Amino acid sequence: MNMESLKRQAAARALEFVRPGMRLGLGTGSTARHFVELLGERVKAGLAVIGVPTSEATRADAERAGIRLSTLDETPELDLTVDGADEIDPNLSLIKGGGGALLREKIVASASSRMIVIADETKWVPVLGRFPLPIEVVPFGLEATRRAVAAAAGVSPDSGRIALRKAGEGHVFVTDGGHFILDATLERIPDPAALAGRLAAIPGVVEHGLFIGLAQIAILAGQDGIRVVERP
Ligand code: A5P
Repeated sequence: MNMESLKRQAAARALEFVRPGMRLGLGTGSTARHFVELLGERVKAGLAVIGVPTSEATRADAERAGIRLSTLDETPELDLTVDGADEIDPNLSLIKGGGGALLREKIVASASSRMIVIADETKWVPVLGRFPLPIEVVPFGLEATRRAVAAAAGVSPDSGRIALRKAGEGHVFVTDGGHFILDATLERIPDPAALAGRLAAIPGVVEHGLFIGLAQIAILAGQDGIRVVERP
């Protein structure tokens, strides 16, 4: 079975948690896009829900799918957010932000009573860190912030491990919020909460891609079927 059909299976399983009238956070990325498409099919069949998108890309997908949309200003409390992840550990701590939407994703997930993370099984890891950790920073003072991030992560600023994300030749990647992303290649993050605390204390850091204590359920699709894991 190919990766896209595994992602779609995880998304389809998450739909079973959706009830009429729910206020839903809509995640970003290729797995979340499957969920938005499948939700759109249910909406066309008569399901009434409201969605709050976590990115401009998801907003466009959800509009195309015919899902009624809102904002966190109009709808500040959500029932459920369904989103993908770049890595998931056994505590259901996540690395997110591979698609650059981590800030809105974290705001939306934090405003939700529940978060379900959907993924193919390759995202499941014993320890976070193989995937470079995205850290959203303000453009002002970029190099000073990059060095502070390196110190917080315990790596040399000259190691190349804390890299500014690019969007093609000569262009810096800019988030929906107008910020930059530093990708931190750390290999292992043995204590995600401690690193999260150190990163959050850096003034130029807007938000980081460690999602701790947010996801209650992970739906993982693999060749042998679907696994539903609850946070211990
Ligand atoms: C977007 O910023 C990310 O947090 C995505 O949720 C994450 O990168 C997973 O994306 P895929 O489902 O495309 O792997």
